[in-house]
Amino acid sequence: MNELQTCTVESHSVGDTERIGGLVGSCLEPGVTIALNGTLGAGKTNLVQAIAESLRIDRKSVVSPTFTMIQVHQGTYALVHIDAYRIADEDEFFELGIAEYFESDSIVAIEWAGKFADLLPENQIEIEIRVLDESSRRFRFSWPSTAGIASQVGQALAARFRRD
Ligand SMILES: Nc1ncnc2c1ncn2[C@@H]1O[C@H](COP(=O)(O)OP(=O)(O)O)[C@@H](O)[C@H]1O
Ligand SMILES: [Mg+2]
Repeated sequence: MNELQTCTVESHSVGDTERIGGLVGSCLEPGVTIALNGTLGAGKTNLVQAIAESLRIDRKSVVSPTFTMIQVHQGTYALVHIDAYRIADEDEFFELGIAEYFESDSIVAIEWAGKFADLLPENQIEIEIRVLDESSRRFRFSWPSTAGIASQVGQALAARFRRD
């Protein structure tokens, strides 16, 4: 894989995370995959809700997709929200048709992406969420420097957040 570029931002409240998600959403382009990692309760779904809102999708319709595993929302762009937590293995990943979404013009946000890191497209922004304390989170964005649209989106993120 290419060299990764990164930038970081800290959130000190759910409201902060909403603003951050809004900024992320404003940087996104169709065809990009957002690979979310972080422990249970880190704020992955919360961030996707804020991204959804900036794509003119009702944030309340974005729920933890643990049981359906895939939810497709139509906004300014289509947003495919996937939770890989309960996807057992690579066979199930492919049976669910997830690889096809990567080829589409949708924005794909996948929680627990690290479980299937090898199956994700290069054209991705990874967001690693670290829990700092009860109300604070650190978001670290990384993207391959030559990954087409993702690197374009990454540059836009780096203009808003602190480049590492
Ligand atoms: N700064 C913050 N940003 C996001 N969520 C926060 C923050 N501080 C506390 N929280 C709480 O963390 C939880 C995140 O839940 P959720 O987004 O469902 O996590 P995940 O999808 O990573 O399991 C929520 O209960 C939210 O209120
Ligand atoms: Mg979640």
